[in-house]
Amino acid sequence: NASMLSYMLFSCLLLSVQAHNCKVSEIIRYTKHLLDENPVNCPCRETTVSSCSCLPIPETGHELSCFVEGTEHMMKNSMLSNEILQRLNQSFQNQRDRKLCGHLSRSDQCQSKTKGNVKEFLTEILKTYQAIKK
Ligand SMILES: *[C@@H]1O[C@H](CO)[C@@H](O)[C@H](O)[C@H]1NC(C)=O
Repeated sequence: NASMLSYMLFSCLLLSVQAHNCKVSEIIRYTKHLLDENPVNCPCRETTVSSCSCLPIPETGHELSCFVEGTEHMMKNSMLSNEILQRLNQSFQNQRDRKLCGHLSRSDQCQSKTKGNVKEFLTEILKTYQAIKK
C-alpha cells in the first residue's frame, strides 16, 4: 500500500544521506596520506609518546569513539601532519555525534579489544572505511 511504499522510499533516502555524510572516500584519502608519512612500525608501549604509542583498536560498534580518542592522542602529541589530523578529528566527531556511518557510531565510549601503534591504528581506520565502501 501507499504508506508502506512512501516509508520505504523515505528509508532509502535517509540511508543514502547517511552514507553520504559518512565521507568514506575523504577519510580513506586522509588516512592514506598519514600512512604515506610512514610512521615507524614498532611494538606499542603505553609509556612512549611516538608512533609506538598504544592506540585503541576498537570493538565492533565502538569504532568512531575509538577513532576520535586515537586521533586526539596523535594531535596532542604532534604526531604526523596536524592539518590532516584536524580534519579527521572533525569528521570522526561529527559522525559519532550525529550517529552516522551505521554501526560505527553505535557507542559513545571507546571500547577496545587490543591496542596498536600508530601504523596499526591507521590501518584499522582504512580497513573499516574500505569495508563500508564495498
Ligand atoms: C576535534 O574536533 C572537535 C569537533 O569539531 C573539536 O571540538 C575539538 O576541539 C577537536 N579536537 C582537537 C584536539 O582539536
